[in-house]
Amino acid sequence: MPVHLDVLISEEAIQKRTAELARQIETELPGEPIVLIGVLKGSIHFLSDLGRELKADTEIDFLQTSSYHGGKSSTGVVQIRKDLDINIEGLNVIIVEDIVDTGITLNHLRELLSTRKPKSLKVVALLSKEGSRKVHPSVEYIGFEIPNEFVVGYGLDYEERYRNLPYIAILRED
Ligand code: IMP
Repeated sequence: MPVHLDVLISEEAIQKRTAELARQIETELPGEPIVLIGVLKGSIHFLSDLGRELKADTEIDFLQTSSYHGGKSSTGVVQIRKDLDINIEGLNVIIVEDIVDTGITLNHLRELLSTRKPKSLKVVALLSKEGSRKVHPSVEYIGFEIPNEFVVGYGLDYEERYRNLPYIAILRED
């Protein structure tokens, strides 16, 4: 199937916004240690860049969910494929998401992680498609609101491709 990519958010704009988000997080958790939890695989570049911007004492862990099975729409069923390695009880946790679309994945993750009694639980998402929400979990920090289009790049994939692009692009079928 022939496709083409239209750049939506440049590499420069992502880096600038990531630095702003790091400053905002530091302001709201002054002097506190932070645990960044990256949701695999889409958050890899964002977590890496955000983590290097943060001056706080930072731990990093990952978990992996599945609900898309490589396609373009959510199945609505969230499974945990890889759980955390660390115990987050009493810690300031920030879930790092690539994108919040229907909200189903994040809703599930917030509920799951809050049962583990973190000191605080916040979410930073690079992208948000507000118009496509089916459920409405809180997202404390949002990089960019985007239209309801399928996007790839900077960690986001279509059937595992395009994650390596340094920018975000809309994937269109010709
Ligand atoms: P949600 O559960 O519908 O909010 O979707 C969450 C996950 O779906 C994200 O973490 C992404 O991995 C994936 N996703 C949602 N929208 C897109 C998109 O436009 N491109 C690539 N992946 C997406």
